[in-house]
Amino acid sequence: MLALACMLVGALAPARAQDADNPSAAALIEALLEGREPVGGPFDLIDQTGRRRTDADFRGKLGLLYFGYTHCPDVCPTELQALSLALDMLGPAGDAVQPLFITLDPERDTPSHLADYVTAFHPRLVALTGPDAAIRKVALAYKVYFARPSAQGGDYAVDHTGFIYLVGKDGRYLGFLPPGSSPEQIAATVRSRL
Ligand code: NI
Repeated sequence: MLALACMLVGALAPARAQDADNPSAAALIEALLEGREPVGGPFDLIDQTGRRRTDADFRGKLGLLYFGYTHCPDVCPTELQALSLALDMLGPAGDAVQPLFITLDPERDTPSHLADYVTAFHPRLVALTGPDAAIRKVALAYKVYFARPSAQGGDYAVDHTGFIYLVGKDGRYLGFLPPGSSPEQIAATVRSRL
């Protein structure tokens, strides 16, 4: 896991000046891996149908959260595909799992855009967007690093970490799966928590 952390830190852009609202990728990954700080928390967002959704709506299900953006060329689609295959492997037991995709690019990822996107993955996948401040808040709560280019417009890429987060039926954070986890690994982890 530490080797993975080093790889991840090394692969990301140079750490930026650190402050509480804008921690570096290294600081966020360390906080997640060390588990000394609380992870997770409430959110108040909008789903792909335009409906307001909060964390409380998903109590009673085991949450699988992934943060990314729909214009991501390869990593996000690969991870969402693995997550979707894992849900299918679980069969009826998978009904107790709620997969959530939270965008880090709310400007482009409008509800209608997300609605088109999620159909490519899993019928039960809920995608969430919202005001930039709400996205920043939930990303920071989950120790997600992301950086969008300051001069936007046209095509741009969003640097981001890609952990899958497990959230218990009571809404409390349980742990994470590293980027690149196979559908089998995701299914096994979920099964152990059901
Ligand atoms: Ni991505």
